[in-house]
Amino acid sequence: MHIRDVIRDLPASRIGEVSALGFGDPAVIPLWYGESDLPTPGFVGAAATAALQAGHTFYTYKAGLPELRTAIADYLTGLHGRPVGAERILVSSSGMTALMLVAQTLIGEGDNLVIVAPVWPNIAAAVTVMGGEPRLVSLDRQPGGGWRLDLERLFAACDARTRGIFVNSPSNPTGWIISAEEIAALFAFARRRGLWLVADEVYSRIVYGNRAAPSFLDQTEPEDRLIVVNSFSKNWAMTGWRLGWLAAPSDLLPQLEKLVEFNTSGSPTFLQHAAIVAIRDGEPFIASFVARCRAARDVAIEGLSGCRRVEVARPEGAFYAFFRVDGMADSLAFAKELLRQTKVGLAPGSAFGPMGEGFLRLCFARDPHQVGDAIDRLRPLLN
Ligand SMILES: Cc1ncc(COP(=O)(O)O)c(C=O)c1O
Repeated sequence: MHIRDVIRDLPASRIGEVSALGFGDPAVIPLWYGESDLPTPGFVGAAATAALQAGHTFYTYKAGLPELRTAIADYLTGLHGRPVGAERILVSSSGMTALMLVAQTLIGEGDNLVIVAPVWPNIAAAVTVMGGEPRLVSLDRQPGGGWRLDLERLFAACDARTRGIFVNSPSNPTGWIISAEEIAALFAFARRRGLWLVADEVYSRIVYGNRAAPSFLDQTEPEDRLIVVNSFSKNWAMTGWRLGWLAAPSDLLPQLEKLVEFNTSGSPTFLQHAAIVAIRDGEPFIASFVARCRAARDVAIEGLSGCRRVEVARPEGAFYAFFRVDGMADSLAFAKELLRQTKVGLAPGSAFGPMGEGFLRLCFARDPHQVGDAIDRLRPLLN
């Protein structure tokens, strides 16, 4: 069978390799995916039902419903330092689709995207699908378990074939958050070199201090080559809806709209109507969700810190504990063994790039009691 080499050679998901061994088993505590156990808030579901009943079942605008684009622009303007107009917003069928649209727009055969890592593997895969090279630059691990960005090393990784720099902050898996000063330095470098900045801010509201993490949208000028990817999945517990968006320079929108036509031809109309309600009325839900994540985070970090083989820092953003296990050489094999022995599902660190080997990722966006039970089960193997 003849297919493109890069597609045949794409690695299967290492997280999927673990979850395939226990998916659907009611005895398993599944902390492997980046997903909450909370269903989508009822008022959002009711809005989708109402939109269906009102007959919003037809093809719609490729860039998204104008009312939804306006609602997203208003939301971003309220959250960040600079106004964002609806003409810069494109609705996508998930954050992942937004990332794929970005890769399709920017990356050709032999181009590279410089990516701050460890990183959720799908962005690297999107670059690979396009025939490009995902060039991972690792954060430095700090004493005590935190992470630091070495800007000089990041800049040194850029060459003549670099089309852009990708930053996911707050980070999946590390919880690292980029500072306003680091964002300013990235803008200065990218402007000088004519590079794109691609910011994945899907966890921007999942922070344990401020209302939102520092954003590239706080500092952008109209002429910047900046694309910011976001999603309804995490903040509003809408993972299964497959809805996201991106904010881009307005003169890029017609190009992106062409790609939407040839990928999905637009996002489901009735879901977009409900997304307007989510973003407009969802603030109390986000506040309670983040408070619940914070409680579960504290259970996870206290529990893990007490294990002799574990080194872990308290993440300030996103909803993952990314912890090092002393003496663990193969995180994929160990995650499978943990699942077999304890029925707790974790993601292997090697799924997030070679620098993730030696680590495991635990998603704590769940009932804090359940997270506590999971730690109790894991403790004997981590001591
Ligand atoms: C860093 C990051 N970006 C993007 C996404 C995409 O989310 P979705 O495709 O559900 O919108 C995820 C999901 O896990 C993620 O962790």
